[in-house]
Amino acid sequence: MPLVTTKELLEKAMREKYAVGAFNANNIEMVQAIIEAAEEESAPVILQASQGAIKYAGLENVTAIVKNAADMAKIPIALHLDHGTNYEQNVKCLRIGFTSLMFDGSKLPYEENVSITRKVVEMGHAVGVPVEGEIGKIGGTEDHITVSEVEADMTEPEEALRFVEDTGVDSLAVAVGSVHRMKKKEAKLDHERIKRIAELVKIPLVLHGSSGVMDDEMKKGIKEGLCKINVATQLNMAFVEGMRKALNEKPEEVDPRKILGVSKELLKKVVRDRIRVFGCSGKA
Ligand code: G3H
Ligand code: ZN
Repeated sequence: MPLVTTKELLEKAMREKYAVGAFNANNIEMVQAIIEAAEEESAPVILQASQGAIKYAGLENVTAIVKNAADMAKIPIALHLDHGTNYEQNVKCLRIGFTSLMFDGSKLPYEENVSITRKVVEMGHAVGVPVEGEIGKIGGTEDHITVSEVEADMTEPEEALRFVEDTGVDSLAVAVGSVHRMKKKEAKLDHERIKRIAELVKIPLVLHGSSGVMDDEMKKGIKEGLCKINVATQLNMAFVEGMRKALNEKPEEVDPRKILGVSKELLKKVVRDRIRVFGCSGKA
C-alpha cells in the first residue's frame, strides 16, 4: 500500500498503549528485512533515514527503495526523516515524498529550536505531513557522557509542554535516560519523568537510543506514554554479525547475496523481537 503518515500510526499507538518501531535502514537488504519482519508480525512500521544513511545511499535512492517496498507490502509503512538537521533538508524530504519529518534542534538555544521547528511544522501541516521535534538532549556514546550529565540533559516536563505549545509538533522526542549507539542493553529510564511529561503533553512521545535500553524498562515506558521507539545500533550489529558469520563459515564465498542473505535473516529476527517487545504485533 502507499506510504502512510506517522500521525495515523502514532495516534492509534497512543490510544492503545503500544509503540511503533522506527527502524533505521542503510541499504536495500535492511529495508527488505524490516518490512518482511513487520509483515510476519502484522505490525505497522516506520522506516527512518538517518543523516548517515542519506549520505551513504543518497536521498533519492533511499526514498525510491522505501516507497517501492511499501507499495508492495501489505502493512502500513511510514517514511520518516531522522534527526533532520535544518529547514532545507526537511523541504527536500517533503518534496520527495517522506510522510514524516523531524527537526532536531535540541542542541540549539530554546528560541532557535522553536523558531525552526515551527517553520517545519507550518510547512508539513500545509500538506498533512506530521513533524517530530526534540527537547532535552539525547547524547551519543562517542560523547563519553557521565550518568550525571545524562541526567542533567533530560527533558524538563514543563519545558516540553511549552515547546509543544510553541511549535505545534505532532510527536516529541524526549531525553529520559537513553544514550545513542550503546552496544549493550544497560540503560534504565526515568519513569517518573516519562509519566509527568505524558500527563502534560498530550501527543505521542518518542524514545531515541533504544539499543542500549533494557527491554523491561522499555515495556514500562510504553505503558507510560512512549509511542515510537527508534532502533538503529542493534540492527547494524545484527546485520554485521550475519556478514561475519557467513564469511567465517565460508571464507571462499564470492556471492554477496549469500553473505547478505545471512545478515537479512539475523536482522529479521531482531526486528520481530523488537516489534513483540513494543506490543505492536497484530496492530497493522
Ligand atoms: O534516531 C535513531 C535512534 O535514536 C537510534 O538509537 O542507535 O541507540 O538504537 P540507537
Ligand atoms: Zn536518535
